[in-house]
Amino acid sequence: MSVEFDKAIEEIQASIIRDARKIYSEKVIERWLNPKYFGEMENPHGRATITGPCGDTMTIFLEMIDDKIIDARFVTDGCMTTIVAGTMACELAIGRTIKDAYKISDEVILESLDGLPDESVHCALLASNTLKETLADYLSSKNEPWRRLYRKK
Ligand code: FES
Repeated sequence: MSVEFDKAIEEIQASIIRDARKIYSEKVIERWLNPKYFGEMENPHGRATITGPCGDTMTIFLEMIDDKIIDARFVTDGCMTTIVAGTMACELAIGRTIKDAYKISDEVILESLDGLPDESVHCALLASNTLKETLADYLSSKNEPWRRLYRKK
């Protein structure tokens, strides 16, 4: 590829990010550019998938020690704000006990992101509902770990 081509791509990317900054907070932009909890987890202690009313799906995976979340990952087929909401849900969950993680509502996610545009507010709800379902999955399989073998993918 030519240097001119690389430069043109860089300029397009910079202009996309500039436009996004007019709409989204810096916290959203940061997580969009670096969704560090995006990805699957092998043998999680908790896992759940939810499809929201818009048709987007999110799966969250949790690794637990003594009822405390020590790691979290998520995947989604949703848009940029769904990825950002999933990233924030994982970020807020890591280090919390189950009881505290249940408090991560859509409002908490939105507040932690300094807000989302109205049309994207439901992405935070999808992330918070998926997290709660994942905690429920952990609790239900905690005393019967064999159940994890029969989980629906
Ligand atoms: Fe549907 Fe984000 S657009 S969850």
